[in-house]
Amino acid sequence: MMQLPNYKEAKVRNKEQVIREEYKFDSSLKNIGVGKTYHVKTYGCQMNEHDSENIKALLEELGFQEENDYEKADLVLLNTCSIRENAHNKAFGMLGRLKHLKEENKDLIIGLCGCMAQEEGVIEDILHKYKFVNFVFGTHNLHSLPNLLSKNLKSNHQEIEVYSKEGNLIEGLPVKRANSYKAFVNIIYGCDKFCTYCIVPYTRGKQRSRKKEDILKEVETLVREGYQEVTLLGQNVNAYGKDFDYDYRMENLLEDVAKTGIPRVRFMTSHPWDFTDQMIEVIAKYPNVMPSVHLPVQSGSSRILKLMGRRYTKESYLELFHKIKDTIPNVSISTDIIVGFPGETEEDFMETLSLVEECQFDNAFTFIYSPRENTPASKLEDNVSLEEKEKRLYRLNEIVNHYFLVNNQKWIGKVVPVLVEGINTNGKDGLYGYTDTNKLINFMGDPSLTGKIVSIKVTDAKTWSLDGELYE
Ligand code: 5AD
Ligand code: SF4
Repeated sequence: MMQLPNYKEAKVRNKEQVIREEYKFDSSLKNIGVGKTYHVKTYGCQMNEHDSENIKALLEELGFQEENDYEKADLVLLNTCSIRENAHNKAFGMLGRLKHLKEENKDLIIGLCGCMAQEEGVIEDILHKYKFVNFVFGTHNLHSLPNLLSKNLKSNHQEIEVYSKEGNLIEGLPVKRANSYKAFVNIIYGCDKFCTYCIVPYTRGKQRSRKKEDILKEVETLVREGYQEVTLLGQNVNAYGKDFDYDYRMENLLEDVAKTGIPRVRFMTSHPWDFTDQMIEVIAKYPNVMPSVHLPVQSGSSRILKLMGRRYTKESYLELFHKIKDTIPNVSISTDIIVGFPGETEEDFMETLSLVEECQFDNAFTFIYSPRENTPASKLEDNVSLEEKEKRLYRLNEIVNHYFLVNNQKWIGKVVPVLVEGINTNGKDGLYGYTDTNKLINFMGDPSLTGKIVSIKVTDAKTWSLDGELYE
């Protein structure tokens, strides 16, 4: 039986209590992957990266072993992203390559999961044009993977199981963490903001917060295991706890996580709407909460912000921005910006540029608007040409890049704490790591420093990174 995605259901928000469940491994499946290898290819955001850590552990419980080269693996699973058209195209391009591989090796097992699996149109294509895909599951049912795979191996039928009504909140999934010193910890799933351009509320469902006890237990375990950094994850972390019937919110959680003694706490992503003064105070108060905030603005035009359904104006964003800057010493603020939203005029775009001139962001991810199936914005008339959108992106990037460099230069001569991530693989000698303010820094040192926090004196600044030397 197949379970297909349904946009109508995906849109529903209700007050029903989320059902919390503990994951149980079906031990009768424990050998179905023995002697076989897997490769998981991850697209998109940190949420997907972290889901892949669960997916890998689920596959290893079945006996599969990881293979870094997808062309050699017995099972290839694509964990996909829907956020923009090019994420789609990449995944479909990869499916094309896998089709060829399968023509040579008919036993190749191909799976698809993640946000694209939640899209009606994508599943239509998988059913009719990509029949060689063995199994599909969605963002609400990672835990179905062992069962689906086992069914497919037995019957050889395409197995599709995607729920659009948000699933239960499953605790206790196994996890194979990508590294041993920094970890992702989910705190809230889904999103209820429904920004008009965004597909996430449909692909990730209703806002559901994990219980404080489960989160703190996970962080405490990481502390005991020697982890140096946790990143608290959610599509909108600042909404944490809004779905509880008691008063425990993001500022309380952040404070309790800081008190576990984990050396570094980060969190992302923050919607400006839910960013409270108490949050700002907690970040300022605890030295292990990193002074680095990702605060997507999307546009500097209040008219466009309204059309985007962002629920703030240019002025209220700036007010919040300056409050954060004034309260948290040396804080770095990064952002996301979309250009070419339907109907964006030159004047609207100039408002974005003026906001960027005022905020001088430490980092910014800039995008051309990409219409997403079934979102309200995709139904708006769009009279801005692609050529004009590309020009705007170019003009915007010139300015944001300039300020990255200006901000980086302010650090020259200062000593900063750096979590060492390992040996440079980009052709440079030495090691790299991230400062407390989330800046990439390159320096010479012994690889045994990987996973440690060291003091580095900044010696030079580039647009995208700093250079430094170990400081005794
Ligand atoms: N088109 C372009 N960019 C988008 N983003 C989200 N949806 C779209 C879209 N339809 C951007 C936003 C968001 C970031 C993760 O991706 O800037 O903050
Ligand atoms: Fe992409 Fe959003 Fe899904 Fe992350 S949650 S994978 S950014 S669509």
